Amino acid sequence: MRGLILAGGHGTRLRPLTHTSAKQLIPIANRPVLFFGIEALRDAGIRQIVIVVGHTKSEIVSAVGDGSRFGVHVEYVEQDAPRGLAHAVLTAEPLLGREPFMMYLGDNFLLDGVSDVVRRFDPARDDALVLLAHVQRPEEFGVARVEGGLVRAVVEKPARPPSNLGIVGVYVFQSAIFDACRAIRPSPRGELEITDAIQHLIDSGRRVVAATVGGYWKDTGRPEDLLDANRMVLDRLEPSQAGDVDTASRVEFRVVIGKGARVRNSVIRGPALIGEGAVIEDAYVGPFTTIGDGCVVRGSEVENSILLAEAQLVGLEERVIDSLLGRAAVVHGRAHKPRALRFVLGDRSAVGL
Ligand code: DAU
Repeated sequence: MRGLILAGGHGTRLRPLTHTSAKQLIPIANRPVLFFGIEALRDAGIRQIVIVVGHTKSEIVSAVGDGSRFGVHVEYVEQDAPRGLAHAVLTAEPLLGREPFMMYLGDNFLLDGVSDVVRRFDPARDDALVLLAHVQRPEEFGVARVEGGLVRAVVEKPARPPSNLGIVGVYVFQSAIFDACRAIRPSPRGELEITDAIQHLIDSGRRVVAATVGGYWKDTGRPEDLLDANRMVLDRLEPSQAGDVDTASRVEFRVVIGKGARVRNSVIRGPALIGEGAVIEDAYVGPFTTIGDGCVVRGSEVENSILLAEAQLVGLEERVIDSLLGRAAVVHGRAHKPRALRFVLGDRSAVGL
């Protein structure tokens, strides 16, 4: 089975982080979410992977390369604009051949991988497989109606969902999907929807099987989803210490401290991850926090947050919680007179005081 990972698209809901970076490269526990996807496919025995890229192509190619560091072979195909998931499938058709393939949406995160999904698909009988999960707000997902293990209907982000079975961003298709993608028309939001192509398969009498996700799954489309996925990964952390921690500091519970990190007069309470070369000084880093490489946390407290590489928290009187700081973002206290709030904020930033 081959793999198809979709890593184009816009990332609108993660602005301002995605103004400067592909949403599939935003890290969870200091690793791009896309890397977890590539490894999930590899661990399921998939070695040939096509990645669909869009305007963030160069970033994704430089992060993933030819795939050899993951033990897979990666080829790229460029989609001219995010015209929908079915359009992305057609863009990749020349590279996919006629054998079944797993399609994986590059911003999805499945803690326990996709090996079960591959096992569940029977290439001799099934034309497609759709992975589903019970979700609280089905109107935000593609939604399926299932009877006797078969998918009877799918609809994209319906106002009145027919069930609470949301479509997870993992599918298996036989080559019949290509004709189905060609047969459909753009949806009201102007995209060629994969849900419409799947519905076309169902209407043509094809066998579309349903599988439900076993472990933890998240579409990391919003900041709170990233914090949640970050918590899940940190919760499984194997502690290790490659940094320099002074005797005035306390490191409690499960903590990973990266190479060259410096911890001075601070408390780190895990599960937490301190990236390479980070500086933690007169600070408190609380549970479920990922500090990126080269970050500085000085005279500040932070908990349940993600700091991307080189971000800084300096001289803050109040604890920072539930926050996501972009690369090299700086939040500093009110050391200068007059005591006032001073900002340089990117478009669509959000600040809570
Ligand atoms: O996450 C699960 C949901 O993913 C499903 O429940 C929906 O049925 C499915 O349509 C999809 O909905 P989203 O609105 O979350 O899709 P999004 O636009 O975020 O795109 C998913 C991935 O595919 C993302 O990594 C970007 C990429 N993409 C998207 C489009 C529209 C492309 O590569 N090309 C595209 O044209």
